[in-house]
Amino acid sequence: MIKISIKKDNGFKDYEVELTGATLLEVLTYIKTKIDNTLAFSSGCRSSVCGSCSMRVNEREVLACSYKVQDGDRVEPLKNVELIRDLVVNMDKSYSFNAKAKAWLTTKTPVTLDHEDEKINEVQSDCILCGSCYSACPVYAVNGEFLGPFALTRVWKYVSDKREEGEETKINKIQTDGVWDCTLCNECTLVCPQNISSKADIEKLRMKSAQYGFMDPSFASFGGGFGSFDGSPSF
Ligand code: SF4
Ligand code: SF4
Ligand code: FES
Repeated sequence: MIKISIKKDNGFKDYEVELTGATLLEVLTYIKTKIDNTLAFSSGCRSSVCGSCSMRVNEREVLACSYKVQDGDRVEPLKNVELIRDLVVNMDKSYSFNAKAKAWLTTKTPVTLDHEDEKINEVQSDCILCGSCYSACPVYAVNGEFLGPFALTRVWKYVSDKREEGEETKINKIQTDGVWDCTLCNECTLVCPQNISSKADIEKLRMKSAQYGFMDPSFASFGGGFGSFDGSPSF
């Protein structure tokens, strides 16, 4: 017998289930079919592929279909997204950042990739759009316009693709609410079920931005003070 606490309506509701060694998704399904058919949650593939069952357990993002439930777990929906009901959220806004960041391949010339070329952004191609990284990102929590981890990872995926012909346009698009707003805290990497490091991809995009003459705006404004570093406050 295990007890788990699930966010429901305006609080948490406790459930007891006769299951051990089960995944969270199996437990949620058990509760919905045997105990409380009003419980709402999302799922699809049941095999860590579709990304639709992401939620938080004990304040950490997980995929419900792969997480093994422990007695006393506390289950909540993802953060930083619109809550629809119980554990169901609306990810549309986060997905829209792919379009805002022009996160697609811009090419008119057919180029064949060899195995080495494909390996360059193989990891970034594994994103399952689960939204865990947006939920964990402290910058997105305070700036809803921040392009965020998976959109920036996707930009790197295309910028690093040798077929990409719109590299400069993509780099221009990620200067505002983009690469320089990230604090490189690495929270996105820690929660990603696909072992994608958006933080590392953002660092690479920063280096690429520098090649186009961009620099960290906070450093740029400080840099103006190098010539007049006389102890006076700068704003
Ligand atoms: S490293 Fe950047 S994108 Fe990732 S969680 Fe931290 S602030 Fe967000
Ligand atoms: S980068 Fe990782 S955590 Fe973020 S949406 Fe993709 S798979 Fe999920
Ligand atoms: S149900 Fe598809 S990832 Fe969990």
